[in-house]
This record gives sequence, structure tokens and C-alpha cells, in this order.
Amino acid sequence: MAEQEWDRETVQGILASLKDKPGALLPVLHGIQDTLGYVPPGSVPLIASELNLSRAEVHGVITFYHYFRDTPPGEQTIYVCRAESCQSMGSKTLEHHIKQRLGVDYHETTADGAFSLEPVYCLGNCACSPSIMIDKEVYGRVTSQRFDDIIETIREST
Ligand code: FES
Repeated sequence: MAEQEWDRETVQGILASLKDKPGALLPVLHGIQDTLGYVPPGSVPLIASELNLSRAEVHGVITFYHYFRDTPPGEQTIYVCRAESCQSMGSKTLEHHIKQRLGVDYHETTADGAFSLEPVYCLGNCACSPSIMIDKEVYGRVTSQRFDDIIETIREST
């Protein structure tokens, strides 16, 4: 698959402002993801050469931290809590339903670009487990049916 275009100028600007700091790689990767929404695979050689690292080192860090994405995010991100309280209240079943319903696994984006799916470990909403968050809004006591209703409402309003 041909790689999508990415904003080279932005990446160069982030590198220029951070590359002389000690341990610059993580701040650079965060800066790129905060700005572009992901770390384009095509930017890895540029990051490596500016930071005097090998491509394998940069790639290794991107894949080690699940937080970093190498594909553009969907319009909205759905976070599913996988921590203990939510698990004890059925989040595994919910998680299975969400993946089926959206046709994606974690760290993937739906074919229409509407939703990305990410795991999260406690949303601070344990009293209302199982919980999910869509962008900044937290939803508690989410059943499969409720998830479908939430998604329907979001789709209708966009
Ligand atoms: S364990 Fe899921 S919100 Fe705390």
C-alpha cells in the first residue's frame, strides 16, 4: 500500500526545536503525534538521521509504546477500559462486541475513517463499570446495546 502523504515541514520544525535536548526521541515522537495525530512511517528516516539514531532504534520505540500510532486516527477515538473493575463487570464481552461491530481491532481505524479503537487502563469511572470514553466523554455501565445506541447517535449527529 502506498504511504499517505505526511507533513514533512511540521516534522522538521518539531525536530529542529527538540533535537538538541537530552533524550529527544520521546519528546519528538510525542510532538509529532500531538500535531499530526500519528507518527508517519515515512518520517522515521528523517527522525533517525536528525537524532543520530538508527531507523531500527526509532522504529523500535514507536512499536514498543502502544500509545504511538503509525496510521492517521479516525475522526473520533473510542477508548475501552481494560482494567480490573471493568473486567469484573463484563468489559471483555463488551470489548468483543465493539470490535465486531466496528470491524477493527485495537490501534485500528474503521474503514470509513470515523472511529479509532484504543485500550485504556482505568478511566476513573470504576463505580460505573464497564466504562468507555469517546474523545473526551466518559460513558459508564455500557452494555453492547448501549454501545450501539451511542454510536448510532454519534453517527447521526455528524
Ligand atoms: S477499571 Fe474501568 S474505569 Fe476504572
